[in-house]
Amino acid sequence: MKSETSKSRFMDKFENIRIALTFRDVMILPGRAEVEPSEVDVKTKVTKLRSLNVPFVSSPMDTVTESDMAIAIARRGGLGVIHRNCSVEQQVDMVKRVKRAEALIIRDVFTVTPRDTVGTALSLMEKNNISGLPVVDDNRLVGIATGRDVRFAAETLLVEQVMTKNVVKAEEGITIEEAQRLLHDHKIEKLPIVNKTGELAGLITFKDILLRGQFPDAARDENGQLLSAAAVSPFDLERAKRLDGFADILVTDVSHFHNTNVFSATKKLMDEVSAEVIVGNIGTYDAAEDALTELEKISGFRVGIGSGSICTTTEVTKAGSPTLFATTQVADAVAKYGASIPIIADGGIRSSGDVAIALIAGASAVMIGNLFARCKESPGTLITIGGRYYKQYRGMGSPGARERRYSLDRYGMPSKGVPEGVEGWVPYKGEFSIVLEELASGLKASMGYAGASNIKELWGKARLAAVSPSGAAEAAPHDILLPSDSQERI
Ligand code: XMP
Repeated sequence: MKSETSKSRFMDKFENIRIALTFRDVMILPGRAEVEPSEVDVKTKVTKLRSLNVPFVSSPMDTVTESDMAIAIARRGGLGVIHRNCSVEQQVDMVKRVKRAEALIIRDVFTVTPRDTVGTALSLMEKNNISGLPVVDDNRLVGIATGRDVRFAAETLLVEQVMTKNVVKAEEGITIEEAQRLLHDHKIEKLPIVNKTGELAGLITFKDILLRGQFPDAARDENGQLLSAAAVSPFDLERAKRLDGFADILVTDVSHFHNTNVFSATKKLMDEVSAEVIVGNIGTYDAAEDALTELEKISGFRVGIGSGSICTTTEVTKAGSPTLFATTQVADAVAKYGASIPIIADGGIRSSGDVAIALIAGASAVMIGNLFARCKESPGTLITIGGRYYKQYRGMGSPGARERRYSLDRYGMPSKGVPEGVEGWVPYKGEFSIVLEELASGLKASMGYAGASNIKELWGKARLAAVSPSGAAEAAPHDILLPSDSQERI
């Protein structure tokens, strides 16, 4: 009797074996549609408090997300997570660049004092690529040094000798429309905002007003600045504290979050920062349940282990949880605990259809590396191979990324010596806006087929079916010679 019990314990591993389905194993069953794809709403939540206008997040990888990518994706309504494979200063600077890219009212304004020299003003302008500086004396606004004021003046002169003293300014509380009218009437580009006692409280610029009109769907914070996020190791409290106050969201960057040491470090980190924290990566119901019961302040889950296009984790360790499977696991745990915590499905997205499947499985957004590394705004090197353009793309566990050493602790202690990622090239696709447009339109078409007019409806209504290998062959173009068949395919 005793021996049979122990025998069945191991046999059970096969009898109750889980089928960890991937994006390639399923398709969306068409459902009755009430709206046309162009009317589908893809707005979503990325954390408890923050919303996005498109459900896309770019991966914190050193060939995917630095400031340019983070600015491009936030302007289109998504979110970029700045990688951490660099010094703390470099990462903080990148986040600051995103926050400074545009604003309703710039709060941390670059200023000079009346007794600074013209040379100082000029170098501040050049270094930060700005065209004018409010002049403050003990924080009271006393003038403005515009490009025109300083450009042709001797560098040794004092700012007070050249500045415009009669400043057009406005008080806190001014509306954008009123500010726009003032800028227009006075033919000026910058409008300093002062408080009741005349102290400088902010700056409204013509450029920012233009950008607001140009990117109406941008993901912004309450000050009109672009949303920004940054990756952190749970064990690097110092870095998290330095980023806090600049990054709206911190994202833990660990390949196996379901680990007692990682939990306690994250708990401490969440107690010390004011930014929202997305935790991950996790892959199972149990991991989500433990996180939900042990960590109070979770604002989002980053989900999926081993599905990334550059991952060798599962090949090397035979451990993993495909993003699709992981998403359903975590979504059920979140539902059971009635927690309204958004899930980001991370890794393995190859098309807009995969995005739709991830959302159907319970995700609120997807995290993408490979498809975004192909864009102009990603930091990877651009090269030509056989007359075509490619961009560098590498896993954060690849030998090249590991050489920089800053994110070695993404992978667990025993595997520190073993690469868990590869590096290579992906076809160049040009501007991010083109790639995003393709993904967003494809997603809306998928949602149209599924019969859902928004993501919430997709969760409730849409159904998936398993695809057999012959079904997969039938679903692709067949019985025709395509021009691309004679070329190398990626
Ligand atoms: P895609 O499929 O978009 O996936 O390229 C990007 C995601 O892959 C994860 N990532 C890695 N996983 N080894 C891994 O096992 C690595 O070297 C590696 N680098 C990135 C990460 O979650 C990313 O968002």
